Amino acid sequence: MSRSPLRIVLDYHDRTKHRLDGYAQGPDTLDWDAQPDPFRRYDEASLIDLPLLADQQTLPYRALSEAATIAAHPLTLHNVAVLLETSVALSAWKHYGTARWSLRVNPSSGNLHPTETYVVAVGVEGLRDGVYHYRADLHALEQRCRFDAGSNAEPALHIGFSSVHWREAWKYGERAFRYCQHDVGHAMAAISYGAAALGWSVGTELHWGDAALATLLGLDREADFQQVEQEHSDVLLRVHTAQTYSTQPSEALELLAWAQGGHWQGKANRLDPKPLYHWPVIDEVAAASERPVPTDMQTETQIPPVMVESVPMLASACTRSAAELLRRRRSAQAFDGTTWLPLDAFLRMLDQLVARPRFAPWNALPWAPRLHLVLFIHRVEGLAPGLYALPRSEHGLALMRDQMRAEFQWQTVSAAPDTVPLYQLLLARAERTIARLSCQQAIAGDSCFSVAMLAEFEPVLAAGPWRYRELFWEAGSLGQSLYLEAEAAGVRGTGIGCYFDDPVHELLGLTDHTLQSLYHFTVGGPLVDHRITTLPPYPAKLR
Ligand SMILES: Cc1cc2nc3c(=O)[nH]c(=O)nc-3n(C[C@H](O)[C@H](O)[C@H](O)COP(=O)(O)O)c2cc1C
Repeated sequence: MSRSPLRIVLDYHDRTKHRLDGYAQGPDTLDWDAQPDPFRRYDEASLIDLPLLADQQTLPYRALSEAATIAAHPLTLHNVAVLLETSVALSAWKHYGTARWSLRVNPSSGNLHPTETYVVAVGVEGLRDGVYHYRADLHALEQRCRFDAGSNAEPALHIGFSSVHWREAWKYGERAFRYCQHDVGHAMAAISYGAAALGWSVGTELHWGDAALATLLGLDREADFQQVEQEHSDVLLRVHTAQTYSTQPSEALELLAWAQGGHWQGKANRLDPKPLYHWPVIDEVAAASERPVPTDMQTETQIPPVMVESVPMLASACTRSAAELLRRRRSAQAFDGTTWLPLDAFLRMLDQLVARPRFAPWNALPWAPRLHLVLFIHRVEGLAPGLYALPRSEHGLALMRDQMRAEFQWQTVSAAPDTVPLYQLLLARAERTIARLSCQQAIAGDSCFSVAMLAEFEPVLAAGPWRYRELFWEAGSLGQSLYLEAEAAGVRGTGIGCYFDDPVHELLGLTDHTLQSLYHFTVGGPLVDHRITTLPPYPAKLR
């Protein structure tokens, strides 16, 4: 009997759990010399070199979370270049012995970077109307499609993301689909922050089904993907160059028509000449969690954001410019196990996780928060070590209280302001426990604190199995916020995709699929490996 898409998604999630007695199915051996090419290119597509301009941006990072409106930069090619440079460009090259690898402004599980970025431009000064693929290796745009939008067309800028699942599955096997979705969430948040630093904002266009988005981005053009790895369309962000939240669904039909009638160029490159493994469950879950195309592309019902906009934010003490801070985000490889995080800095980090729909990165997630945090606090000044909860909505609070261990205390933390609903669950030193639950990774225990992100799971998926991907996007966005806030506070963060799922659930008393932990994160005082040399991201380009 054929399984429903919901069943397929739930089965995929369960079979890709890491268990104490065995990891999710992955490759038996890895040939590091045969790693898939991290850079897609479209041969024969014309290339537009982008300038490096982010160093000239002076807006302070802390301005991104202040009530005052940031003056919007004009919609020009140069500002699109700044947006990309501060969100998805390379951030550095690293050298160690004979090994050389690049890092990017957005993080990625295993640094494998399955996410590809597209720009859809209409009426952008200095750029012909059309669809472009972003070459992070060159900081350049490849023109895939030239539109004939006409001179009366309203200016519009969209950023589209797709995933090459194989890049991630090469190393992580079946669990890779989850990581691809986390990475999309990080990239969405990265664009949202980059846009905010230009006085722009983003909205997510959920009325695009995956198939229509594939057509817009040229991903369903079979002739351009002969014998090469496919890309799966994920999401389209609209960039507002003034503070507006209007979406115009009719514009989607227009864009689609221009793409269908446009002039396309370029052939996708092969990323892995000798793929060793095949993971059919990834294709299966990708199909089961595909967002359907509404017939008129207007019918997607969006849950209106419910959070109060006017809640004041805790100020950041960071004095760096936004453009600098966004590009200096890095993952810590190890923590010192001794740094204590000041309470103010900790509360500011948590405050930034409150979903304020006008602000980055939450303007990219047009739904009420579905992820809630359990914190394993080890070294935060003024807070006793233990387990704490940060529900991100009233509904989340009710669910957590109902589903988690009855013996949890749910005592409000008086040091936290009203905007940060932090509850103490249990006082205990949990460094070794969380390190063990995080696939034995010491960074989870040597940190100031670690986080498990609990998603409202089966009830949300029952309303649409494609929401499986949205849950990971929200998790990635929470991670991106924590990465940046850690940098701003002078410490460092690391996403943790490797953890033992059900043992975490057991610890918290979760017994069914109502809440599931989808991502972990850890923040602490970093130990820097001085044997690794750091070089600039684009040594051949002038700044
Ligand atoms: C979804 C996701 C999961 C990750 N999981 C882990 C992990 O389990 N352990 C770890 O040490 N780093 C983890 N990382 C950090 C990545 O290894 C890191 O982002 C990557 O090496 C690139 O380095 P950068 O973040 O400094 O640019 C994860 C990152 C992401 C985005």
